Amino acid sequence: MATYRIRHCERLQGEVTVHSAKNAVLPLMCASLLTREPMTIERVPVLKDVETLVEILSECGVNVRRNGPELTLWSDEPVSPHSETLLSRMRASVLVMGPLLARTGYARVALPGGCAIGQRPIDLHIRGMQALGAQATTTPGSVTLQGELTGGNVYLDFPSVGATENILLAAVLAKGSTRIENAAKEPEIVDLCTCLNEMGARITGGGTGTITIEGQKELHGCTYRPIPDRIEAGTILCASAMTEGSVLIRGARPEHLRAMLHKLTETGVVLHEDSAGLRLSGRAREPVHVRTLAFPGFPTDLQAPLMALSLGLKGTSVFLETIFENRFMHAREMARLGANIRIEDRIALVEGGRPLAGAPVTSPDLRGGAALMLAGMLAEGETLLSDPYGHIARGYENLPAMLRSLGAQVEEITLPEEEVRG
Ligand code: UD1
Repeated sequence: MATYRIRHCERLQGEVTVHSAKNAVLPLMCASLLTREPMTIERVPVLKDVETLVEILSECGVNVRRNGPELTLWSDEPVSPHSETLLSRMRASVLVMGPLLARTGYARVALPGGCAIGQRPIDLHIRGMQALGAQATTTPGSVTLQGELTGGNVYLDFPSVGATENILLAAVLAKGSTRIENAAKEPEIVDLCTCLNEMGARITGGGTGTITIEGQKELHGCTYRPIPDRIEAGTILCASAMTEGSVLIRGARPEHLRAMLHKLTETGVVLHEDSAGLRLSGRAREPVHVRTLAFPGFPTDLQAPLMALSLGLKGTSVFLETIFENRFMHAREMARLGANIRIEDRIALVEGGRPLAGAPVTSPDLRGGAALMLAGMLAEGETLLSDPYGHIARGYENLPAMLRSLGAQVEEITLPEEEVRG
């Protein structure tokens, strides 16, 4: 089991380079199902979720070649994945549905898993495929879609990132044109549209609420470099702000992080953007008021890291989580360190500025786990963070090493099972 030892940290200093975005890379990998030509993705981060998706795509008949940080994928006749346990490991596995259906006229996928941060249904994905003419049959554990796709109008009740991606991945090979209304606008959507267009798709409106896709007979391969990870960058910014650090985050794209940068500025830190990336210095003092929203609102994935920062800010910080209904599980663990957090439904009230003391804590999910690593850096003494499901490594490429390179004392250790609180 992954266990991390974290010691109190006074001040982060130095520079780090942000990796490619997990949430961009996963849909790009699924795009490889759309063509028989090879698709190469550059700067692929070393993540558990990438490994899991490689396994799933291999089951789909995709050939995968790794060359250092490059991943090349191609498939002659892709098929649906059969292993339900693999699909249940990560939510993004549902993104094989759209491209398989579009390319072969058939897709069967087990209902996906991932972090238990809410119900996370896939009704919007399925309704999108139906709007393109697919027949859907659902059983309690899986969904089967079939039919030749024709363009259609899709309205999303919520601008779901995954549903927008899945529909895009299907519509690019459908006959005729498709409009997605109330589409997600996240930078990862724009990245997917850019890559698909490089593969020969005709998509306009990526990054706006209305995306139009002119379906093509076939797509071709390409070589693509994904955008940097705004959530990883935001996590490091919180760590730095928490410790009155002075840090340069190379490669971070400020335009992807506007909401976060506003919140950080409100706390009192100084941010500077230049061609190298983002520089943060100074001390965060003022508490924060945050409402998570779809992009360009404040990202739900940074709610937990910002909550870690708020633990050190005197006064009441308020977090309203509107995207997922069960995304405060880290608060209970932060309380073990001495944090004073009251949860009322979807609101968390943090009375910051109380002394924290190291204690054993458990990672409840991916971003919550990272936030606990940060909270451990605020606490006096030593915090042992156990991550029995390996959540943190699913989405961060060696976060402890990144933090260590800035002066933090965070290391992954091996403990005998009986010493680790489950
Ligand atoms: C993606 C990100 C995740 C991020 C989330 C919101 C990836 C791999 N993951 O997840 O890190 O936290 O966006 O920014 O990119 N919903 C439905 N029906 C559906 C689909 C979604 O009701 O068919 C609901 C979900 O339950 C949730 C909300 O919509 O409450 C947002 O989900 P969505 O935007 O789809 O998130 P994911 O694509 O799963």
